[in-house]
Amino acid sequence: MNNIKITDTSLRDGHQSLWATRMTTSDMLPILDKLDEVGYHSLEVWGGATFDVCIRYLNEDPWERLRAIRSAVKKTPLQMLLRGQSLVGYTHYPDDIVEKFVERSAFNGIDIFRVFDALNDVRNLESSLRVIKAVGKHAQASVVYTISPVHTMQHFVDTALRLRDMGADSICIKDMAGLLSPYSSYELVRALKENLDVPIQLHTHYIGGLAIATLLKAAEAGVDIIDTASVPMAFGSSQPPVETIVRALQESERDTGLELRQLFEIANHFEQLRKHKGFERGVTRISDMRVFEHQVPGGMISNLMSQMEEQKASERIDEVLAEIPHVREEMGYPPLVTPTSQIISIQAVLNVLMGERYKLCPGEVKDYVRGLYGKPPVPVMDEIRKKIIGDEPVVSVRPADLIDPMWEKARQESAHYARSEEDILTYALFPQVALKFFAWRETLGSEDIPQIETHDEINEELKGPQPDTRATKRPVNRVRPTESFRGDEEMNLDEIRELILLLDQTSVSELEVQKNDYRLTLRKNRNAGGGAPEAGSEVAPAHVRKKMVSEDNNMIEVTSPMVGTFYAAPSPDAPPYVQVGDRVEAGQTLCIVEAMKLMNEIKAETDGVIADILVDNAQPVEYGQVMILIDKK
Ligand code: CO
Repeated sequence: MNNIKITDTSLRDGHQSLWATRMTTSDMLPILDKLDEVGYHSLEVWGGATFDVCIRYLNEDPWERLRAIRSAVKKTPLQMLLRGQSLVGYTHYPDDIVEKFVERSAFNGIDIFRVFDALNDVRNLESSLRVIKAVGKHAQASVVYTISPVHTMQHFVDTALRLRDMGADSICIKDMAGLLSPYSSYELVRALKENLDVPIQLHTHYIGGLAIATLLKAAEAGVDIIDTASVPMAFGSSQPPVETIVRALQESERDTGLELRQLFEIANHFEQLRKHKGFERGVTRISDMRVFEHQVPGGMISNLMSQMEEQKASERIDEVLAEIPHVREEMGYPPLVTPTSQIISIQAVLNVLMGERYKLCPGEVKDYVRGLYGKPPVPVMDEIRKKIIGDEPVVSVRPADLIDPMWEKARQESAHYARSEEDILTYALFPQVALKFFAWRETLGSEDIPQIETHDEINEELKGPQPDTRATKRPVNRVRPTESFRGDEEMNLDEIRELILLLDQTSVSELEVQKNDYRLTLRKNRNAGGGAPEAGSEVAPAHVRKKMVSEDNNMIEVTSPMVGTFYAAPSPDAPPYVQVGDRVEAGQTLCIVEAMKLMNEIKAETDGVIADILVDNAQPVEYGQVMILIDKK
């Protein structure tokens, strides 16, 4: 067998897994020539969360970063992670955007595209694979690895064969949760090598500590390429360290041929950076090592903990952990990776908190059941599907076939700021964050040091539910990049944001104060226009009013099932679902409570007349807070 090849993930997955993706382009530039000299198979430097984090938190143009890296790295192929039809975002985009994005990425310097779909639904990779081939670049298609009764060796081999038939130049085993054990790794690599004639690459995460052994067994089984990171960005939820792997393989026939001296020079650069910026090392926690028992990946656990804390129900985390495997089974055993990790975990949380399973299902869960994310490994259980979407049909076409082209619209909408096709793409993917970034960019060169105003974010939030809710209410200047976050790239960008807000209690309360200030201003302004009541003459707070009405037996209190934000209408421009005096029927939608980034429709449980709406649009609500009163008469 020949030398094993290595992809270095330090500039993408490495810092994404351990440093919340906060490495800047200027942190990278000084070491690029050395990285280029090592003799790596490729450098993974772009895609995943790096794109989003660049514009959202670092005030950097991701396309500029790619061009800067490309001009410094002259010999080594550059690689990116592409989330299939979701590109570097979180929802499916139409084919015209996929085509443009791939084409511009290739133009700006990407040689190898690693593409994956959370459900291993190969239809979601059709467009991207086709375009990657058309622009003459290397298309690496991923088989997402997970454990379930339906994820057999045969399933993985079949998926890989289909991907090869679709034109994949190589296959990646993508083990985002560190679930691939050494002997399964040997078996899987052998099975793929026996059935396919294209190179096989293994991407795993250290998490519970098995990954070094997993890579060595894969090497024995003949894997062609493996992923590692420079040691300051290895271990924990990241990849295994290149230095250890190189050393371990030195006396074998799979020797990497890489120079340890060079690798430690590079490690030294990143270690200085790590200390300087206060970034953390990768560590393995006991709960990470128990991932095989509960099958809930590490990143998802910390996310759940923070969600449960937010819901003031931390003590029920064990119930949620026990619920997850049930929900996952009922939903057709999706691999737990963005966005399915979030879909499964929020439903498990709601099932526990509501005291009745599937009583409340967020829009994303319904869309999943409708087939809008693709086909689950096995169909959603009939009984559960009926509970969630009733008799609604499940789509059988490729989900992106249902999405209208978007390029022209994005071009027009961003015309004021966009300076290039790349800008239009940035806008198409993350409209609100992009506009803020472009506006900031316009200020460059002026006397003032540019500052992103938190008020802008609150402003956006108060407009109500928006198509991309992730783009709102996350204060740009309040991140704490030094926190160590768990889990894989594809699962934890949002988790990271959530966690940042939770950990940074000062910021949260500050945000609340600012929100309230803003609301007062809003009311005053409205009042000036002759509308809503004046700030000073506000009615009693909701919890006080709750007491005032609870005597009345005819009144049904509609309470918030969770901590979140109340929205009276489906979108900022739409009329409210209900108004005082409206007659409603059981099952009718009354409002939305946004929690954990998902929109939850709250429905009437009985017929009646809306007697009062106690919460203003876009106002935070507590668990159990009365939002609406319905008179049963
Ligand atoms: Co990864």
